[in-house]
Amino acid sequence: MLPIILLSTIAAVQAVSLPRQDAAASSPAAVSGGSPVFIACVQDAKIPSLTQSIAVNASSREECSVTCSSSSSQHDLAFFRQDTLECYCSSSADAPTSDEIVYATDELGNCRSQDDASVEYLHSTYKFSECVLPPLTPSTSNFSTSDPIECLKNCSNSSSTIVIRPEYDGDNDKFEYDCQCYDSTQDQIQTGQKTDCGFGIESIYTKA
Ligand SMILES: *[C@@H]1O[C@H](CO)[C@@H](O)[C@H](O)[C@H]1NC(C)=O
Ligand SMILES: *[C@@H]1O[C@H](CO)[C@@H](O)[C@H](O)[C@H]1NC(C)=O
Ligand SMILES: *[C@@H]1O[C@H](CO)[C@@H](O)[C@H](O)[C@H]1NC(C)=O
Ligand SMILES: *[C@@H]1O[C@H](CO)[C@@H](O)[C@H](O)[C@H]1NC(C)=O
Repeated sequence: MLPIILLSTIAAVQAVSLPRQDAAASSPAAVSGGSPVFIACVQDAKIPSLTQSIAVNASSREECSVTCSSSSSQHDLAFFRQDTLECYCSSSADAPTSDEIVYATDELGNCRSQDDASVEYLHSTYKFSECVLPPLTPSTSNFSTSDPIECLKNCSNSSSTIVIRPEYDGDNDKFEYDCQCYDSTQDQIQTGQKTDCGFGIESIYTKA
């Protein structure tokens, strides 16, 4: 049942979105600059629920993100499935909540190819480095948010390193992201052991 739903969704998305890509060519860009960074792995079941996705062809995660970034339409996110080579350009409204996160296969953000998809944010001024176990040395400032893109955007521009950890706030019964901003250089941050990216794990980003 699921493959049939997925295929018809893809067909519908392509039919609707291809003309829109051309029509958007003359629209001014709302968000631009920066480059793609890994955010998380999610189950492939997330893909049919994307609100504004446009399907494009891509043979790798990198190619998917570059294609979505360079599209004349303005996109914030790229979703990519390695086994089917499906690539979807989408908006920040589709950013995963922390309860949607599944574990990667390594500390570099490669997702399980058979049933998961990678999510990349397309306009970061930071680059993804690696995932490590908590705890880390105390940060310069920190905040919590339901949107991982806010972690990458809301730290002060003087931050040299940003660390994002998907977590559950038991006191408020909320799934959220813990965002840590470091003004010191990454060398001064005492990082934990490298581990597969995922829920409860620290993703480290350094200024590009
Ligand atoms: C993807 O590639 C196939 C084969 O080259 C082509 O028929 C199809 O139109 C392409 N799809 C998109 C969305 O560009
Ligand atoms: C976040 O910052 C507050 C002070 O602003 C500090 O008390 C708290 O321990 C910090 N949390 C983490 C996880 O570093
Ligand atoms: C991040 O910044 C935006 C824009 O300034 C603001 O609306 C939002 O509340 C901030 N988020 C957090 C978690 O501080
Ligand atoms: C960082 O700098 C950019 C460009 O000058 C600005 O748009 C953005 O609001 C700044 N971010 C913060 C968190 O101050």
